[in-house]
Amino acid sequence: MKKLAIIVHSGYGHTQFFAKHVLEGAKNIQGVTTDLLTIEEATQKMAQLGSYDGFIFGSPTYMGSVSGPFKTFMDTTGGIWQKQEWKDKFAAGFTVSGSPSGDKQTTLITLIVFAAQHGMLWIGNSIFPETYLGVKAEDAANRLGSYLGAMAQAGQDAPEKSFVSGDLKTAKLFGERVAKVLAAKG
Ligand SMILES: Cc1cc2nc3c(=O)[nH]c(=O)nc-3n(C[C@H](O)[C@H](O)[C@H](O)COP(=O)(O)O)c2cc1C
Repeated sequence: MKKLAIIVHSGYGHTQFFAKHVLEGAKNIQGVTTDLLTIEEATQKMAQLGSYDGFIFGSPTYMGSVSGPFKTFMDTTGGIWQKQEWKDKFAAGFTVSGSPSGDKQTTLITLIVFAAQHGMLWIGNSIFPETYLGVKAEDAANRLGSYLGAMAQAGQDAPEKSFVSGDLKTAKLFGERVAKVLAAKG
């Protein structure tokens, strides 16, 4: 059985809501157990994180990058980095922004650099944008056409009213994809 952790920060609940859909997707895959950890929970059990085979990192995009609390979590892994304890584990990431672009790509690149510094193996987003298959944009998986990781745009309403169906579909398929890669690992 492989172990996957989704580690997420969410200031106002939107990224957490997206993360729950990633979790739902990951749970569809046999041979992998998945935990959803807030950044606070992950920080508290930093020493135990080494028992996971892979991580999906999730951060809202704040001021064009990861949020402050997510960056603090990244910096807290310095001791783990020094011993390269996460080397060859799998990593993937997602982000939620308010604007259609909102400079989300910078957030994903920050997560990729973080994973690379730890010697981790990055899993991109392989979901073919369904807009190219004739699906209406708001219902289309990977409607935002992001391949480095999963992206979503949330409105200002409560989390459950802020996402179009395509982005929540993206979350589930992304969770499934990452869990499948882990399950296939020998
Ligand atoms: C401090 C702050 C900075 C933000 N910066 C950006 C930004 O650079 N680009 C963007 O599109 N949205 C930005 N937003 C909007 C958030 O990305 C958006 O509301 C997101 O859904 C928040 O996720 P959360 O509820 O998980 O915190 C910002 C929000 C806050 C609070």
